[in-house]
Amino acid sequence: MTVSVASAPGKFVILGEHAVVYGKPAISLAIDRRFTIKVKRSNEFLINGEPLDLNLIPYIKSICMRHYMIPVSLRLDSTIPSGSGLGSSAALSVALSAAMNSLFNKKWTSETVAREAYEAEYFAQASGSPMDTSASAHGRGIALNIQDAGDHLWTIEKNENRWDISDIDVPEMTFVIGNTGIHAPTGPLVKKVKKYRETNKFASDIVDEIGDISLDGMKAINADDRVELGKLMTANHKLLSILGVSCNELNKLVDVVLPYSYGAKLTGAGGGGCMVALTDKPEIVAKAIESRGGTPYIVKTGVNGVTLE
Ligand code: MEV
Repeated sequence: MTVSVASAPGKFVILGEHAVVYGKPAISLAIDRRFTIKVKRSNEFLINGEPLDLNLIPYIKSICMRHYMIPVSLRLDSTIPSGSGLGSSAALSVALSAAMNSLFNKKWTSETVAREAYEAEYFAQASGSPMDTSASAHGRGIALNIQDAGDHLWTIEKNENRWDISDIDVPEMTFVIGNTGIHAPTGPLVKKVKKYRETNKFASDIVDEIGDISLDGMKAINADDRVELGKLMTANHKLLSILGVSCNELNKLVDVVLPYSYGAKLTGAGGGGCMVALTDKPEIVAKAIESRGGTPYIVKTGVNGVTLE
């Protein structure tokens, strides 16, 4: 193959971010915003026509190293805002892995791509769970370490942690995302929680409680109980705030949507980025988010994972 094009979706976390880093249960859904990457052979590494310094983008470097550092020209196109909790770097790694494997005529599946992309994320951040990369590779929805979810997809282990990843039946529910516009890289927030959890029993109990909330959330999803799921989302947001990963702007957006939502919470690492609301009134929620300076996205779920274009 001389050119290959692949795309992969972003995601949001219904329940369980940060706790999932320690192998606790979590649930994430893929959304209709995608990273698209076109790859072709070249004499030097190029990104959107410019010379590419691989040391500046470790996700890309990690995947290129797996393909013997053969120079390629990359064209990137994305509708996922970066550093916003919507899994932009995971979608980049997943789409790039699929495109590179196709370019070099290697067989791949969503599982092999999820594994390769997780290694790239780990190479770049030296921390984190395989939630975002697996959600992007598989699409639809995934549960991690929850037994009463759907079919088992794959298991990933890293250091002392293990994640059993399953497909979930994506609920027919409406979610609205609100972007604070504050760019917040994941690595430092994961480190902050890690330190807090290691030095404070109270913080480690909160991480466990978030895991329990995800287990209850799976039951609520299976029972199609939005009222309960919404309550759990808001409770999850409070626990994340106590862990120190929310911020005023996120809290403002969560507060303003709650009168029109079943529940709302930050999504992803926090510190800025996005929040997500479960609601039957998406237009009203979108306006409320705008009224507090946020950018709303009414998202579709149930989307495909990594795809060759
Ligand atoms: C994922 O979007 C956010 C964190 O849970 C980190 C991770 O799972 O790798 C904070």
